Amino acid sequence: MVLLKTMSAKSKYTHHQHSGIAMPNNSNNRKVLLDEDGIPKEWYNILPDLPAPLPPPINPATREPVKPQELERVFAKELIRQEMSQERWIPIPEEVREVYRLWRPTPLYRARRLEQYLKTPARIYYKFEGVSPPGSHKPNTAVAQAYYNMKEGIERLTTETGAGQWGSSLAFATMLFGLKCTVYMVRASYNQKPYRAILMRAWGAEIYPSPSNKTNFGRSLYEKDPNHPGSLGIAISEALEDAVTHDNTRYSLGSVLNHVLMHQTVQGLEAKRQMEMIDEYPDIVAGCVGGGSSFSGLFWPFYYDVYVSKKAPKKTKFVATEPTACPTMTKGIYTYDFGDTAKMTPLLPMYTLGSDFIPAPIHAGGLRYHGDAPTLCLLLKKGYIEPHAYNQVEVFEAASIFARTEGIVPAPEPSHTIKYVIDEALRCKRTGEEKVILFNLCGHGYFDLQAYLDYFEGRLQPFEYPEEEIRRSLERLKSELPWIDQLPYLKNL
Ligand SMILES: Cc1ncc(COP(=O)(O)O)c(C=O)c1O
Repeated sequence: MVLLKTMSAKSKYTHHQHSGIAMPNNSNNRKVLLDEDGIPKEWYNILPDLPAPLPPPINPATREPVKPQELERVFAKELIRQEMSQERWIPIPEEVREVYRLWRPTPLYRARRLEQYLKTPARIYYKFEGVSPPGSHKPNTAVAQAYYNMKEGIERLTTETGAGQWGSSLAFATMLFGLKCTVYMVRASYNQKPYRAILMRAWGAEIYPSPSNKTNFGRSLYEKDPNHPGSLGIAISEALEDAVTHDNTRYSLGSVLNHVLMHQTVQGLEAKRQMEMIDEYPDIVAGCVGGGSSFSGLFWPFYYDVYVSKKAPKKTKFVATEPTACPTMTKGIYTYDFGDTAKMTPLLPMYTLGSDFIPAPIHAGGLRYHGDAPTLCLLLKKGYIEPHAYNQVEVFEAASIFARTEGIVPAPEPSHTIKYVIDEALRCKRTGEEKVILFNLCGHGYFDLQAYLDYFEGRLQPFEYPEEEIRRSLERLKSELPWIDQLPYLKNL
C-alpha cells in the first residue's frame, strides 16, 4: 500500500532535493507528479563513480586513446568536454530547462490495473517518457545537444535514426534552436514507419532512407541494392560522412556516448524524488537497451544511492532487456569494435555483435544496434547489471497486455522491459514477495501500429541471432586489426 507523505518529508537516502508538488497519493491515485520547478538543475555523471576506470576510445590510426581535439570536427566542444568530464554533477543550462518545461517533469505512474490483472503482490511503477512531443525520452539529450551546437555557431546537425524516435527528437530540438537537421533513417524503418519521417519533415528536417545516394559510403551500398534494408551502423557512417565533409555542420548521436546517457539522468533524478514522495524505493529498476541511454538515464541516480552515497534503503537490482534478434548483452563479446559499419568512428570498448552486423527487420528498430554504451558494458562486465533477452512475439504479447490494462500503447522497445516486469510480477505472485519494480516506459507506440497489426495477424517471427555469425564477424575484425587484443585497457576487468 502506498502511503501519503507530506511535502516536507525528506528521506535519508535522497541526495538531491528538488522543489515540486506531489499530487496527494492516496490509494486511488495513479500518478505522482512534480511541478516544473522539480525539473533537475544538474545532470548526474557516473564517470567518477564507476567501479573501474572506463577504458578509453581508441583511434585506430594511432592505436592510442582518442584526444579531445580529434573529436572537434564531429561534435560541439562542450559535448566533448562533458564526454570526458570527471565532475559528478553538471549544471543544466536554464535555456535547456526552459525547453524541458514543454513536457517535463514526466509523470510516474503506478500500474495498478496491470497489478490487478496479474494478481501480483508486487508494486509496479513506470516513468512515462512518451509525453514528450516526439513521444520518447530522446529529446532529453537532443535539446541539450542542439543548444550547445547553437551556442558554438554550428548551423546544421546530421544524424541517423533507427525507429525514427531519435531522428524526430533531433528534428524537434534543432527547430527550437534555429538549426538545420539532416536525418539518415534506416531504410527498413523508413518503409515500416512512414509517419515518423513525415513528423521529422513537419519539424523542418530533411530526411533520407539509408543507405542513400547522398554520401560516398551510402552510394557504395545503394548502387548494388537500392532496396538494401540498412542498419544503424550504416546510417551512422552516412551521417558522419555528411558532417565531416560540410562546413559548419556537426554530427549528433542519440545514445551510447557518456554525455548522451548523462543528459538522460533527468529521468532517474525525477523518479527518485517521485518515489520518495510516496515513501517507496525500488527493489528493481528495469529498462530496455538499444545503446543504453533510456535505461542508464533511469538507473544511474539509483546506482548513486546504492554504490556511491550508500544511502539507499535497499540493494536495488538493475535489469536490462534486449531482443534475441540483437542480443548484444546476452551473447555479444566484450572487446574493442567500431561504432559504425564504414569504420569511421573510434574503437569503443563494448559488448558487440560485430560492426558489420545486419539485424533482422524486427519492429523494435531502436534496439537493433550492434554494440552498447561503454559505461553500460563496463557495469555489465563487473556484474552490476542483469541482462535478459526476449523474442518479439513474446514482447508484443506483453505489450498487448499492458495496452489492455494500463491503456497506453507502448513502443516496441520498452515492451521488452514490460515482458520482464510481467514475468517478475508473476514470480512474486508465486512467492508472495511484495517487490517494488520501477521501469522505464521510454516511449509510446502510436507510430508502431503496423507492428501491432503484424502481431495480431500472426506475421511476427521470433528471430534469434546465430552465435556463429557473431564469432565470424569478430574474427573478421581481428584479422583486420590484430593488435586489438594487445590493447591493455580491457585486461583485468
Ligand atoms: C522508444 C525507444 N526506446 C529505446 C530506444 C533505445 O535506445 P536507448 O537504449 O539509447 O534508450 C529507442 C531508440 O531509438 C527508442 O526509440
